[in-house]
Amino acid sequence: MERFELAEALVRQAGAALRQARLEADSVRCKSGHQDLVTVWDRKTEQFLRKGILEHFPADAIVGEEYPTEGTASQEAVWYIDPIDGTTNFINQHRNYAVSVGCWRQGKPLFGLVLDVEEDRLYHARAGQGAWCNERRLAASRRRNIEELLLFTPDVLRTFLQPAPGGEDLLRLARDVRAVRSIGSVALELCAVAGGEADLCVATRSCPWDHNAARIILQEAGGVIAALDGGPLPLNEPGTVLAAGSPEALDLVLKRYGGHENE
Ligand code: IPD
Ligand code: CA
Ligand code: CA
Repeated sequence: MERFELAEALVRQAGAALRQARLEADSVRCKSGHQDLVTVWDRKTEQFLRKGILEHFPADAIVGEEYPTEGTASQEAVWYIDPIDGTTNFINQHRNYAVSVGCWRQGKPLFGLVLDVEEDRLYHARAGQGAWCNERRLAASRRRNIEELLLFTPDVLRTFLQPAPGGEDLLRLARDVRAVRSIGSVALELCAVAGGEADLCVATRSCPWDHNAARIILQEAGGVIAALDGGPLPLNEPGTVLAAGSPEALDLVLKRYGGHENE
């Protein structure tokens, strides 16, 4: 079995299990604080994904949210997995959460899969082969007038009230765009830009497992992603995120609201 087929099978199985999951009160824990949660299902799902990957590809490296990295990034393929992106939504809403699996080789994208679990929508892309939501081809938005853009952010408070370096002008941007929306899952928000439902996505802190699958889907749909200052988004460190439907929209935002022009 190829890596992509394996990943799709594992993500779909993980999603089926999560749809049936029911949370006991004692199965939720705080990590760094009361806004940073983990459940037994985050852990179970990550273990399931890791085991399935390593059974077939024991030499691959895995970077995931809930357990230490296995293997090294110099290895042939590196998998970035977020077993549940949107854990708070999983707990409070039982919707608007995703299983996210991205695979890269020597710094280059191979494929990304993001499953919107409750909607059973699988966003997927292989490098060079376009991006899809189930069987529907995705195309990012071509809108370029600031006042027409819909901006998504996974964390309204941090994005606009505690701006990260390069993001000081985001409040002005928020006032100028058509509207601001928040799902609460970086992966689903980036997929919304890939599908043209959103025109921009801004996050002031995002980790490799949050965005390394969805960024492949976004780029295959014609979108672009950078750090908030316009520089490259690192593959292996947390960073700020500015995603747009087109290079022109990204450059416009950078020119008017900070950073430097994207090259
Ligand atoms: C979080 C979600 C959230 C974002 C956080 C992420 P988690 O992931 O994507 O929307 O604001 O920065 O850490 O903890 O639910 O996997
Ligand atoms: Ca996450
Ligand atoms: Ca997570």
